[in-house]
Amino acid sequence: MDELKITEASLSYAPSYTETFDAVAREGKFLSISSGYPLADMRQFIKGCRDCGFPQFFLIDRQGRAVGWCDIVRRTNCPDDVGFLGVGILKEYRGQGWGSKLMAATIAHAQKRGFREIRLEVRASNYNAIRTYRRLGFVKIAYAKNGVTTDGVSEDVWTMRFGSRELRHDFFEQGAFFGRFPAIQYKFTPSS
Ligand SMILES: CC(C)(COP(=O)(O)OP(=O)(O)OC[C@H]1O[C@@H](n2cnc3c(N)ncnc32)[C@H](O)[C@@H]1OP(=O)(O)O)[C@@H](O)C(=O)NCCC(=O)NCCS
Repeated sequence: MDELKITEASLSYAPSYTETFDAVAREGKFLSISSGYPLADMRQFIKGCRDCGFPQFFLIDRQGRAVGWCDIVRRTNCPDDVGFLGVGILKEYRGQGWGSKLMAATIAHAQKRGFREIRLEVRASNYNAIRTYRRLGFVKIAYAKNGVTTDGVSEDVWTMRFGSRELRHDFFEQGAFFGRFPAIQYKFTPSS
């Protein structure tokens, strides 16, 4: 097994992060989009996370390429101590425990930064991811019926949560963020 390392994100990894994100998106089964974003947008995202203190970690291979990512960001219409997790790694590195380690590192950092609850959205058919999330302590709290459509085929999207924060029903309502997948709006306001 290649020796990989987990490290905090930085702009020097932007090109390989862009390629990795695009490759995972193009698998068409996991993310909310079916191709990645341009390098300039990915650089902007890395900068946004850094400026706002959002945890963002990369999985780095021997050649120094980012072959996986995990980030936790705020979203509009959600309290500031609720973070949304995104994760993915290249196919050849899956199923070896790296995803779990990457998420554990990112969640630990988020907790230090004051996030009291981590949420994520996952396609109901993404069994490997759901099993991994459950093992880490995430529980399903809701689902959006036919929440995502790829090539004309719709499927449910689960919302899962991790953390001790009490559920707040004022924002946890149909419409508050259901149906926004994949039209995600990040909240890039610098944290105090
Ligand atoms: C979800 C993901 C980040 C998990 O990372 P990972 O490194 O595969 O996770 P782990 O190896 O820590 O755990 C995966 C589980 O699937 C099992 N598995 C076996 N072969 C596997 C394979 N080829 N691919 C994925 N998982 C596999 C692992 O053994 C493990 O099972 P366990 O929970 O019973 O121990 C990764 O699979 C991935 O990038 N998937 C594609 C993108 C994606 O789905 N992103 C999340 C969108 S919500």
